[in-house]
Amino acid sequence: MKLRRAVAETRQRLEAAGCESPEVDAEILVAHVLGLTRSELALDSSRKLSKTEERTLEDLVARRESREPLAYVIGEWGFRQLLLHVDARVLVPRPETEIVVERCLARIGTVAEPRVLDVGTGSGAIALAIADEHPGARVTGVDASSGALEVAGGNVVRTGVAIELRAWDLFTGLPDGPWDLVVSNPPYVLPEELETLAPEVRDWEPREALAGVGATEAVARGARDVLADRGALVLEVAADDASRVTTLLDTLGYLDVIATKDLTGRDRVVEGTSP
Ligand SMILES: C[S@@+](CC[C@H](N)C(=O)[O-])C[C@H]1O[C@@H](n2cnc3c(N)ncnc32)[C@H](O)[C@@H]1O
Repeated sequence: MKLRRAVAETRQRLEAAGCESPEVDAEILVAHVLGLTRSELALDSSRKLSKTEERTLEDLVARRESREPLAYVIGEWGFRQLLLHVDARVLVPRPETEIVVERCLARIGTVAEPRVLDVGTGSGAIALAIADEHPGARVTGVDASSGALEVAGGNVVRTGVAIELRAWDLFTGLPDGPWDLVVSNPPYVLPEELETLAPEVRDWEPREALAGVGATEAVARGARDVLADRGALVLEVAADDASRVTTLLDTLGYLDVIATKDLTGRDRVVEGTSP
């Protein structure tokens, strides 16, 4: 089968399965099987797939048709400047979380060796990106999920970026600091909202990474005890939750509390300064 036809047939199947971006997904899957980039596909569209490549593609397309997230199907996902391994033990890093990292870098940019704590590190995305983009930073990522910590550990090896990883339950308080920055993208989907989410999220991503009641509050309270003077707390929040979290941080005594918008114009990151 020629590459052009493989992309077209894959696109049709994914469209029929209800995938949101069938064209892009089809190109990414075919490129992945052939070891090409998406732009290289266009240059080589009359290339033929071998029988082995066709079989591999068939397996991956069947998985994506069942609405398994594309990132799990290809086993990796880009985040900031890193290509991370992801699988069903961790949340797929989201574009809005890249803005969380941007805010973190803005907060620690002038500190030579900031001590940073990432609470609920998952794949290690935030922790690794901060360490990668601020080489002086000493970053610790914590998570309650042993599976997530295994994935994050694999990503340390894969990227060659050094961070420390620890098992920790955020509801027991936060690890002793003092930290110059505490960052978290905690589980914030309400349990009753889970059924309204896309199948990729609802049926595949780890429940403990998505849904949680009180995690944001627990991190905000815990951070007050372990942040250095004038240290920063940066939190990702649900699309409709920024004003509640802003009030929470004000009430807890944080200073200069602000919210930052994601690329679609919604307030998704709330930050404050420890007094
Ligand atoms: C929304 S995911 C964020 C993952 C990653 N930081 C990111 O932004 O892509 C939340 C993470 O918090 C972890 N988590 C859930 N409950 C926790 C708890 N009680 N203590 C520590 N981590 C927890 C989950 O295992 C998951 O990895």
